[in-house]
Amino acid sequence: MGEQKDLLFPYEFKELDPEEEKLVEDNLGPFPTSLIKVGPKGYIAYRPYKRDAANVYNMPLRPTDVFVASYQRSGTTWTQELVWLIANDLNYEKAAEIPLTHRYPFLDVFMFFDPNEKEKYINVMSNTEENFDKEKYSQVLDMMSRPATLLLEEIPLTEKRFIKTHLPMSLMPPTLLDTAKVVYVARDPRDVAVSCYYHARLFKMMKLERSFKDFWNMFHRDLYTLTPFFEHVKEAWEKRHEPNMLFLFYEELSKDLPASINRVADFLGKKLNEEQMNRLCDHLSIDNFKNNKSVNYEDMRELGVLAKGETFIRKGKSGGWRDHFDEEMTQQAEKWIEDNLKDTDLRFPFMK
Ligand code: A3P
Repeated sequence: MGEQKDLLFPYEFKELDPEEEKLVEDNLGPFPTSLIKVGPKGYIAYRPYKRDAANVYNMPLRPTDVFVASYQRSGTTWTQELVWLIANDLNYEKAAEIPLTHRYPFLDVFMFFDPNEKEKYINVMSNTEENFDKEKYSQVLDMMSRPATLLLEEIPLTEKRFIKTHLPMSLMPPTLLDTAKVVYVARDPRDVAVSCYYHARLFKMMKLERSFKDFWNMFHRDLYTLTPFFEHVKEAWEKRHEPNMLFLFYEELSKDLPASINRVADFLGKKLNEEQMNRLCDHLSIDNFKNNKSVNYEDMRELGVLAKGETFIRKGKSGGWRDHFDEEMTQQAEKWIEDNLKDTDLRFPFMK
């Protein structure tokens, strides 16, 4: 079932040029592994991706697989919980019992972790204060650097697989939409950039020392993980009419959650009554999400890898970018968006 003939990985890898590398390092500090560009669009990946790119591209799929895909910080976690609960007939008990990270193997997380540089990862973290648990962290590194394709193969055929990915469609198996379902969620890139900035501050591994303005400069020059942002979104947008693809916008979830829930339910062949809808909306509200241990990633705090004062589930609103962009950045963003949307009918809802 889902067997796929081995295709070679069709893309080449390229090094960043020294000026680009400097811009990244000035923003994110030294990282135990470095970046490379993938394919003609120059998707930015961490170097360990290279090792397993072909395995991901050729991964055996199953007709029951459900992928939740996105450019990071676009509402992935929110969509994951929504999709999982609907697919699992609103089993809130199981959702509370099993953390989202266990319910959804994260296909591409391995790219951040080079198993040959384990000491470097440990050293970076050992220099941060507080409750860093070296032993436990070392085990987590082993787990994270193991490609999720292996973990996914071990899931019994009788079990439905839910998979999280931030990879663009072109780096995924070419038969993906012939076999499995994909829910893709997109968000206004200005809110994504702000959210990525706080996300980078959350993980002590990143030594984010610059201002948001510097970060924005790097982000909109397509030098952040898995940018170019617009190419990522456009690849999914082009597939939005395929029966196995559901394309959502964060802004639509924010504005009318029941409408998005109904779209997901239709897509998965389910139906919710009013009472079920009300409970699900309540469960998915930002305030409940912040306190929901199964989805809020706070368990990672015990490891000592998360920075004080930052959280994975953050503000959860649309248009928050306005508090972070000065006039120059606003104009820059407008031009960037306009340039990138001019050859496509992709439009972000409620974008001003
Ligand atoms: P902000 O940083 O703007 O608050 P991802 O899951 O793809 O990493 O996306 C994270 C973003 O989604 C964060 O955005 C986070 O706060 C927001 N988010 C998570 N859960 C949410 C919810 N239940 N309602 C609204 N936004 C949510």
